[in-house]
Amino acid sequence: MKFFTAPLSLLTLLAPLLVSNIGAGAVPAPALASTDANLPADILNLLNIGLVSQINVFISEDSFVTNIVTANFTVHNPLPVEITLDSVSAAAGIDGSVFSTFATSFKKFFVPPFSSKNSGLIQNVVLTQGIDAALGIVPLGVLDIIDGNVTIRGATIFGFGGIKVPLIGLVQKNISTSYEFVLS
Ligand SMILES: *[C@@H]1O[C@H](CO)[C@@H](O)[C@H](O)[C@H]1NC(C)=O
Ligand SMILES: *[C@@H]1O[C@H](CO)[C@@H](O)[C@H](O)[C@H]1NC(C)=O
Ligand SMILES: *[C@@H]1O[C@H](CO)[C@@H](O)[C@H](O)[C@H]1NC(C)=O
Repeated sequence: MKFFTAPLSLLTLLAPLLVSNIGAGAVPAPALASTDANLPADILNLLNIGLVSQINVFISEDSFVTNIVTANFTVHNPLPVEITLDSVSAAAGIDGSVFSTFATSFKKFFVPPFSSKNSGLIQNVVLTQGIDAALGIVPLGVLDIIDGNVTIRGATIFGFGGIKVPLIGLVQKNISTSYEFVLS
């Protein structure tokens, strides 16, 4: 039964959101009847619940040689319970075109109910199309998460315990993004 535990539990966590969104007519009810193996991420995608509210990208002089930047991002927790992010692997870009990828794990990144928290600095964000192409999307000031795999635990207490929920294939469009040039 272990297989079903996490998704059903996440459904319980998401229940208030599901009710409010269905009430607002935003979500087709059949979503709940989905037999997709990846129910949690699908539900988040369907509900258009953006976990990420802001991305900040730092471009250094080295970036022009290495095609690597650093970044931090703010996670918004829309749930009435604390969530803890254990790891994130994501591809971000614009209009379906990936410009950057990163994978990282966190020691203790918990976000209290209805709150926001910053990830801290993420190293090794790879500019997959190179820095010149990446500079081209800087003026847009937004990024889409084109593919995101996030392992979260729901209903944690100060980052401890909770229910492990792997989210595979998260997408989120139009995330406000700032770029800073960091000169040494
Ligand atoms: C997310 O996981 C899927 C399935 O394992 C994999 O195909 C995909 O490449 C992963 N995406 C990222 C951005 O890591
Ligand atoms: C994330 O980046 C923003 C923008 O530069 C900065 O104000 C903030 O202090 C950073 N947060 C952390 C935790 O590094
Ligand atoms: C994208 O986000 C920006 C602000 O970050 C907003 O001005 C714009 O209307 C949004 N576009 C869409 C299509 O949601």
